[in-house]
Amino acid sequence: MTSPVRFERHDDVLVIISDSPPVNALGAGVRDGLKEGVSQGINDPAVKAMVIRCDGKTFFAGADITEFGKPPKGASLHEVIDMMDSSEKPIVAAIHGTALGGGCEVALACHYRVAVPSAVMGLPEVKLGLLPGAGGTQRLPRIVGVKAALEMVAIGDPIPAKKAAEVGLVDRVVGEDSLEADAIAFAREVADKKPIPRVRDKTVAPDPEAVEEFKKKHGRRMRGFDAPAANIACVVAASELPFDEGMKFEREQFMKLMTGTQSAAQRHLFFAERQAAKIDDVDPKTPLRPINKVGVIGAGTMGGGISMNFLSAGIAVTIVEMQQEALDRGTGVMRKNYEASAAKGRIKPDAPEKAMGLLTPTLSLEDLADCDLIIEAVYENMDVKKELFTKLDTIAKPGAILASNTSYLNVDEIAAVTKRPEDVVGMHFFSPANVMRLLEVVRGEKTAKDVLATVMALAKKIKKVAVVAGVCHGFIGNRMLSPRQIEANKLLMEGATPQQIDKVHTDFGMPMGPFQMADLAGVDIGWHRDPSRIESIRDALAAEGRWGQKKGAGYYDYDEKRNATPSPRALEIIEEFRAKSNLPKREITDQEIVERTLYPMVNEGALILEEGKAQRASDVDVVWIMGYGWPVYRGGPMFWAQNEVGLKKIVDGLEKHGFKVAESLKSAAETGAALK
Ligand code: 3HC
Repeated sequence: MTSPVRFERHDDVLVIISDSPPVNALGAGVRDGLKEGVSQGINDPAVKAMVIRCDGKTFFAGADITEFGKPPKGASLHEVIDMMDSSEKPIVAAIHGTALGGGCEVALACHYRVAVPSAVMGLPEVKLGLLPGAGGTQRLPRIVGVKAALEMVAIGDPIPAKKAAEVGLVDRVVGEDSLEADAIAFAREVADKKPIPRVRDKTVAPDPEAVEEFKKKHGRRMRGFDAPAANIACVVAASELPFDEGMKFEREQFMKLMTGTQSAAQRHLFFAERQAAKIDDVDPKTPLRPINKVGVIGAGTMGGGISMNFLSAGIAVTIVEMQQEALDRGTGVMRKNYEASAAKGRIKPDAPEKAMGLLTPTLSLEDLADCDLIIEAVYENMDVKKELFTKLDTIAKPGAILASNTSYLNVDEIAAVTKRPEDVVGMHFFSPANVMRLLEVVRGEKTAKDVLATVMALAKKIKKVAVVAGVCHGFIGNRMLSPRQIEANKLLMEGATPQQIDKVHTDFGMPMGPFQMADLAGVDIGWHRDPSRIESIRDALAAEGRWGQKKGAGYYDYDEKRNATPSPRALEIIEEFRAKSNLPKREITDQEIVERTLYPMVNEGALILEEGKAQRASDVDVVWIMGYGWPVYRGGPMFWAQNEVGLKKIVDGLEKHGFKVAESLKSAAETGAALK
């Protein structure tokens, strides 16, 4: 096999070039090639300095994640990096694209770094539940100091070349189109400089204050994750231990994370997210329909949020409402959201004007005639949607995509009222639609392949993670939410409290439990509005005006800042309802709550897969992580069931509590096969 790494001599400079698409990950072939190149440079008396660069779209984007957990092959990254570091001839890293993880560590082991202005550098291993395991945690603080290093390794966001140059990570920012020539010139400039600057020879002062401040600032977002603390510990070690001892410490911490379940879950998510974009029977080269203008019907919370996604991506939006007042209110909220983001420095100061300048508010559906994609976000009612799609069919131009933001309804039934069901698709955004990353793309029976491909590509453009779902009640996400909700309510009737059930979920790592969620969404949702008809605890709460957060009372009591406290009155209502139903009260264990609220979700996920309503188990995981806050470090419900709990235990638990277990789940538990 030919090596992905080649060497080119430019008089006294040896240029070592990796060409390993798509991202020059540091797989065995690349590591072996680098080792050979550096060794040639060291041993060839005519070579005075070396440059390492990459072809393609990026400098090394990291270790090859697909090799993790497999038997080691070829030269190790440590071996290559040690050899580079020890070279008596200077090595210059010539960086473009994204120098990430192991790639950034290769750059750190070089004696000099030059980068084009558009390059970024970072150590994102923490996002994979890991830490930089090739000296990154020991070298980086020695250059940028403890404080900046903590941000880079324990949060994992990369920094642009200009910033990297400011903090000393990059020695020179070079021409965008002359990287190789500029790097060679730089190498010649430094070829005879002695001593060779080695990061390992530097020291960095401890900064306990910065460490404490960092922990305090980011405590909430790091909650439940193992990797951030390990990253912090390594940075501290860099400031307290000699280099070699620090490296040993880094190695131990790295191995601990690498063999744990959290990193496995986070790596699973990395690939799951990318896999979700692929549709099994749709050619990735399918020609896309151009989307230059989007129509959104409904300027409520959902319609406004949906519109913002497109405006932020520079796509013009026509937004339609029925009343001027509602239209003004909706667009006002959008403007306020943009302005708040600008005030917080999250977007550029001129971004709100730019985005709002692309918006055309109107009261007339006819104004959607020139839109390439029309998304309705109106009241969730089949008759309303059918009437709207009948009208849209007469208004929309030929080839326009007609999408419904329905969260439960049958997209085929909606499509059937049009003469172009092949152009109809579900685009289920999650609230708040301008923030949540998930988009369920609901594939109708007749949805055309190019419509699907176009919507998937558009999702990427507006920075969503799109997952394809088939038509069924609640699609993937809400369909799995339903059994959880049913069981949570039954558990209340049997003697658990809302606090106990919610705490099991938040301890598990969910942002909130079923009753906190009900209070947030509104206890009155779906209520028949007849106070004399009390058929459930929810009815009883709603009848008393306990509609959740918006009323200051629901399953919990709320203060004016919406802080929740357990509610004696809600507990009384629950007790009264239970007493009327003559149900005995018993102690419920936390384990039972897990078995009865989370295991049935896995069961439902298996049914969804059996019915072909999701393409693959990892898609189900993406939906629950991106749309409902399932903890990333548990990899999604299907990953969790298979890798943390074990399917046998899930099946036993479901049977113990009298659930009808999905056949695919039973057989996978018996054979040990993975859920597909
Ligand atoms: N290893 C293996 N494959 C990788 C990879 C890696 N490090 N990084 C990306 N890929 C693959 C993706 O899976 C994808 O494959 P597919 O086309 O078959 O789905 C393909 O490369 C392209 O990736 P993206 O779709 O993500 O391309 P983008 O252009 O959107 O993004 C990127 C490029 C910014 C480099 C992004 O891929 C990324 O963030 N990669 C991961 C970076 C990372 O986490 N590096 C650290 C790795 S761990 C490490 O280095 C440990 C060390 O300290 C010892």
